[in-house]
Amino acid sequence: MSQRPVVCIDGPSGAGKGTLARALARELGWAYLDSGAVYRILALRVLRQGLDDDAASAAAADMQLRFDLDSNEVWLDGEAVAREIRNEDVGGVASRLAARPDVRQALLTYQQRFAEPEPLVADGRDMGTVVFPEAPCKIFLDASAEVRAQRRYLELRDAGKDANFDRIFREISARDARDRGRATAPLQAAGDALTLDCTQLTVTEVQEAARAHLSRTGIL
Ligand code: DC
Repeated sequence: MSQRPVVCIDGPSGAGKGTLARALARELGWAYLDSGAVYRILALRVLRQGLDDDAASAAAADMQLRFDLDSNEVWLDGEAVAREIRNEDVGGVASRLAARPDVRQALLTYQQRFAEPEPLVADGRDMGTVVFPEAPCKIFLDASAEVRAQRRYLELRDAGKDANFDRIFREISARDARDRGRATAPLQAAGDALTLDCTQLTVTEVQEAARAHLSRTGIL
C-alpha cells in the first residue's frame, strides 16, 4: 500500500481535536478523516440493525463513508448522519466497540485507505500510534477533564439542549478511563508526538502551536 503524508491529531474526547484537524486540513487543502466518526457510524449500524457486539466487525466491511469539511456533514451509504452519531447513546456503544480487538482490526485497513489517494489530516485516539505510525507529523492534544466537560456543557446549553455539568463530567471521565485503560490501542501519545496541553490555551493559540509543529516537521 502506498500512503501519502498524514498529520495525526490524537487525544481524549472534547480536547478540540476536530476543530484543529479541520482547520489544518482546510489550510493544507488535504483530506480529513474523523476516526471517531468511523467508530460512531459502526455503532449506529449495530444499534439500528440490533446486532450483537460479536457481529460488529463484519458490519464494518462495507461501510461507504464520506466527510465534508465545509458542512461538517458525514454520509453513511449516502445518508447524512452527523447529528445522529453525536448522540450520547451512540457514543457509549462506540466506546464499548472500540475496546474490542476484532473491531479495531476490521477498521484498521479501512482507515488507512483514506490516506491512499491523497494526503490526510486524521484525528482520533490511535492515529499516530497504530493506524499511521509512519506519519511525519503527530500532535497529541490534551486538556483537563474539567475543562473538556465545561466546553461540552456550554455547547449543549448554547444549543438549547438539556445540560448537566456533573453528569457530563462523569461521562467524560468514564470514557477517558475506558479509552486509556483498554488493552488494544489504548489512548496514549506516540513517542514522536508533540503533546499540547490546551487546558489554558485559546483555539487560536492551539492552532499557532500546531502550525509551528507542522513547520518543524516540513509539512508547512
Ligand atoms: O472522538 P469520538 O468521541 O467521536 O470517538 C468515539 C469513540 O470511538 C470513543 O469512545 C473512542 C473511540 N475511538 C477510538 O477508540 N479510536 C479512534 N481512533 C477514534 C475513536
